[in-house]
Amino acid sequence: MSLILSRKSIRKFTTEGVDQTSIDAMLTAAMQAPSARNQQPWEFIVIKNKPMIDQLSEVSNGAKPLKSAPLAIMPVIKKDAPAPHMCPQDLAAATQNILLTATELNLGAVWIGVFPLEDRIQKVREIIDLPSHLTPFCMIAIGHPDQSTEVTKLRYDASRITVVE
Ligand SMILES: Cc1cc2nc3c(=O)[nH]c(=O)nc-3n(C[C@H](O)[C@H](O)[C@H](O)COP(=O)(O)O)c2cc1C
Repeated sequence: MSLILSRKSIRKFTTEGVDQTSIDAMLTAAMQAPSARNQQPWEFIVIKNKPMIDQLSEVSNGAKPLKSAPLAIMPVIKKDAPAPHMCPQDLAAATQNILLTATELNLGAVWIGVFPLEDRIQKVREIIDLPSHLTPFCMIAIGHPDQSTEVTKLRYDASRITVVE
């Protein structure tokens, strides 16, 4: 619980790179996510190439945090999964696992939305030569935080809860 409550989106990073052990831990957590029928309809593109990360930062206004990020992980949806309508949920679970692991490792990260917006998907495809059976789901900017990591507000709201007995 404390890990979940201490996660927040980090959008400014130092120039320090992310070590391979941390990258492996985030990918291990991602692939441990639940998925419909255990279909695991994901692959992960690990982008360390700074000029390419800079290009990806132009995909949308929301992608700007990539400008200072030394690392981007892009979860991508694999075509022909047995339960295709569930793929976005599966990928979202994997993405959240990456964010939580980044927090655990004292890294910062932010989820940058791509899927299902066709213009963003196309822009990403123009930058990264993805095979046609892979669709970008989101981009995660990751690095060492260069801003406060303190979570200042708890969002718990009892009025959002209905109890059925
Ligand atoms: C589906 C999704 C898309 C998001 N897209 C962006 C984005 O494009 N750019 C960005 O800076 N943050 C993006 N975020 C992060 C949210 O803005 C952030 O989670 C929200 O403001 C709550 O703040 P917190 O993560 O610090 O708790 C996205 C989050 C989700 C779940």
